[in-house]
Amino acid sequence: MGISHLIALEDYSVNQWNNLIEIASDIKNNLNNYKNCLNNKILASLFFEPSTRTMLSFQSAFLKLGGQVIGFDNSASSSLSKGEDIADTIRVVSTYSDVIVVRHPIEGACKFASLYSKVPLINAGDGSHLHPTQTLTDLLTIKSEQGRLDNLTIGICGDLRHARTVHSIIKALSCYENNKIFLISTKELILPNYIKDYLINKNIILEEVTTIEECIEYLDILYVTRIQKERFSDEKQYIEQKDIYVVNNQKIKNVKPNFKIMHALPRIDEISREIDSQKCAIYFNQVEYGLYMRMAILLSIMENKLIINEYNDIDIDSNNKCLNVKCITNNDRFCQNKSKIINNKKLCYFCDKEL
Ligand code: NCD
Repeated sequence: MGISHLIALEDYSVNQWNNLIEIASDIKNNLNNYKNCLNNKILASLFFEPSTRTMLSFQSAFLKLGGQVIGFDNSASSSLSKGEDIADTIRVVSTYSDVIVVRHPIEGACKFASLYSKVPLINAGDGSHLHPTQTLTDLLTIKSEQGRLDNLTIGICGDLRHARTVHSIIKALSCYENNKIFLISTKELILPNYIKDYLINKNIILEEVTTIEECIEYLDILYVTRIQKERFSDEKQYIEQKDIYVVNNQKIKNVKPNFKIMHALPRIDEISREIDSQKCAIYFNQVEYGLYMRMAILLSIMENKLIINEYNDIDIDSNNKCLNVKCITNNDRFCQNKSKIINNKKLCYFCDKEL
């Protein structure tokens, strides 16, 4: 059996996600019971892209479990700045550590990195692609605050094109019964087709709208995202988009009694500060759930309790070139093209775009 890296949630069964939610809830209630679980273990925290919550919550989680942390938060201070490639960096770092957390701006970079790691490697966000540990945090938040993960109506608002948090959470919600998603965005920032294609045959209803007003009264949750400035090639387009959606008290006058607002943060201006004191604002609770979820993930992965799915439908071949310029295959001179067949479509093995 291979090492259980956490790169994409679909590599694990929904039962295992639910299990992590239970462990995280137990950690929240009995924090003291967990304080020596990872004594003498070392986490390597490698952040090639800015982060506050994900990086510090992983580090704090590992310290709270009794372990120790090494790493860098800026590739300029590592040998990558001398020209070392990611494969060699990971070979070396996995000699020094028991588990590695990687955030990287290039799509598929964490998958590629995992191929060279001798220890479990966790994807802490790879470009616009995926953010599985934020999604597990979001699932824990929803389960704790709404009591269930099915039969929910959720509005997802903002930069649906670039936000990896959105791509990951929609895929995850499609694995529970009877959820409905309102995709709230401008036409410039709609959800990419490769994510929509993934959702065909899944048990989820999607409806695209352009205003919050069209759906707010039906929502159990409004999940707001930042317009992802760093992912735009044209700054003018970012400026045109950045202030289109602002959630304020006026917008949430007609909501269901159980209505909640989530945001993975950082927030810029998309949620007005006047919302912070309302009972529906749960984005700072979400930060706390993130700490417990990362403790649950680290603990399970270190105790070999996460069992990765064995796929039969992955067909590796190197003849197809991925056309996504932000894919690792086009950004690392040693990463070769590989494909996989999913739902009868040939996809890039690293970034999931159709070939
Ligand atoms: C998000 C991320 O990095 O993708 N933040 C986070 O991890 N909590 C959201 C964002 O940057 O907008």
